[in-house]
Amino acid sequence: MHDVFFSSKNSISASISTIFKASSSCFYCNLMALASSNDPHKTILITGVSQGLGRALALELAKRGHIIAGCARNKNKLDSLHTELLQASPCNNLLFNIDVKSSSCVKDMAHTIMKKIGAPDIIVNNAAVYHDHLKMWEVPEQEFDYVIDVNIKGTTNVLRHFLPLMIPKNQGVIVNLSSIYGRTGAALASAYSASKWAIEGLSKSVAKEVPDGMAIVALDPGIINTEMLAFRFGDLASQYQSPEEWALKAAPMILNLTNADNGASLIVDDPGILPG
Ligand SMILES: NC(=O)c1ccc[n+]([C@@H]2O[C@H](COP(=O)([O-])OP(=O)(O)OC[C@H]3O[C@@H](n4cnc5c(N)ncnc54)[C@H](OP(=O)(O)O)[C@@H]3O)[C@@H](O)[C@H]2O)c1
Repeated sequence: MHDVFFSSKNSISASISTIFKASSSCFYCNLMALASSNDPHKTILITGVSQGLGRALALELAKRGHIIAGCARNKNKLDSLHTELLQASPCNNLLFNIDVKSSSCVKDMAHTIMKKIGAPDIIVNNAAVYHDHLKMWEVPEQEFDYVIDVNIKGTTNVLRHFLPLMIPKNQGVIVNLSSIYGRTGAALASAYSASKWAIEGLSKSVAKEVPDGMAIVALDPGIINTEMLAFRFGDLASQYQSPEEWALKAAPMILNLTNADNGASLIVDDPGILPG
């Protein structure tokens, strides 16, 4: 069972609380309140909001008054984010318990977002996975495929279903999370590195296809102490900036992107230096 939370701190007391089935079997919607029709703030979709950079960015952007739509697979973490977003933001937020690997679930998410809050002004394709530290030929085929499916195909699922909604407005910014490993090679990280090189190429190619009012960029976020970094570097990860510190820099940078940035490979300020 997948859930969608649609919430507003201001109007929650109005207690418009309905549970309905969305357009397909992929998710259900818990409609807690209705969106304000004249909200001046940006509508921002972030994938992978249950933890790490996606979660910190969602909260930072919500605090700045923007409307957040987000997705991830871990329902408990989405539940707690839902509560934190209610505390952080007077705006409406939508959280979807879906896997970006599923094209049909992403399609249904696009349909619901379009219906509830309109086409996003900004999309941050952040969801990604890592894999065991093994040489390329030792990585089990299924694990290699899984990294490709989430990191590349998950991103293309979002582009496939959201770009046609944004293009008619000839506006919008898409930020695809890359990595230093998408710009250099890294031993024991072949599938992840390959997936991030793909994100760079995908971003530069789609940049040549979108209309001139739009932008799509690849963004290396730098080095941040998240579960993914701890998986890679163990205790060393704690030496690095927290996701919340990172979000303070990343949020204004992302909000300031324009069509002049289309096709760029960018990096968040003060990225940090990899160990060894
Ligand atoms: N941390 C760093 O230093 C660093 C450096 C370079 C690049 N990056 C990039 O920054 C982004 C965020 O990384 P992070 O460090 O915050 O990683 P993280 O802590 O592992 O968080 C990854 C997020 O992606 C979500 N996710 C994974 N698979 C998903 C799927 N199939 N469908 C939907 N959501 C999915 C996870 O939620 P669920 O498990 O709940 O689905 C989680 O919320 C990634 O693109 C990563 O490659 C990070």
